Amino acid sequence: MIALPLVIALLAQDASSEAVRQAAPPKLALCTQCHGSDGRSRSPAAPHIGGQNELYLVWALNQYREGRREGDVMSAVIDELSRKDIEELARWYAQQRWPATIPPEPEP
Ligand code: HEC
Repeated sequence: MIALPLVIALLAQDASSEAVRQAAPPKLALCTQCHGSDGRSRSPAAPHIGGQNELYLVWALNQYREGRREGDVMSAVIDELSRKDIEELARWYAQQRWPATIPPEPEP
């Protein structure tokens, strides 16, 4: 009887990690080299984007798409994305946790 809640918990965990995998946008692989699938930067030049506001991410990607913001790398990758891809990727990255790499100092 003791094991039953554990089994249920494991099943639930399995189901949720499966749900996360299914929700991964088809174009995510284009981004992971620099931003990771969790939005934590993998390169010194790339910003963290995991946990960023979804509307901001859509806005920022549209800036590249429409040529109003230039970035050598992003300008190259942005042509691969449709508006739907942008919305899916923004939703995905917004769902990740913002990387808190340094514990906060108390405010003076
Ligand atoms: C080869 C590395 C690389 C790849 C691949 C890449 N990025 Fe970037 N990304 C960058 C860099 C570098 C910047 C900062 C460029 C700048 O100065 O505007 C950036 C900026 C961004 C920003 C703006 C962040 C902000 O805070 O304003 C978003 C959003 C973004 N990338 C999303 C994506 C998405 C989505 C993908 C996949 C389709 C992707 N990137 C692929 C390197 C990369």
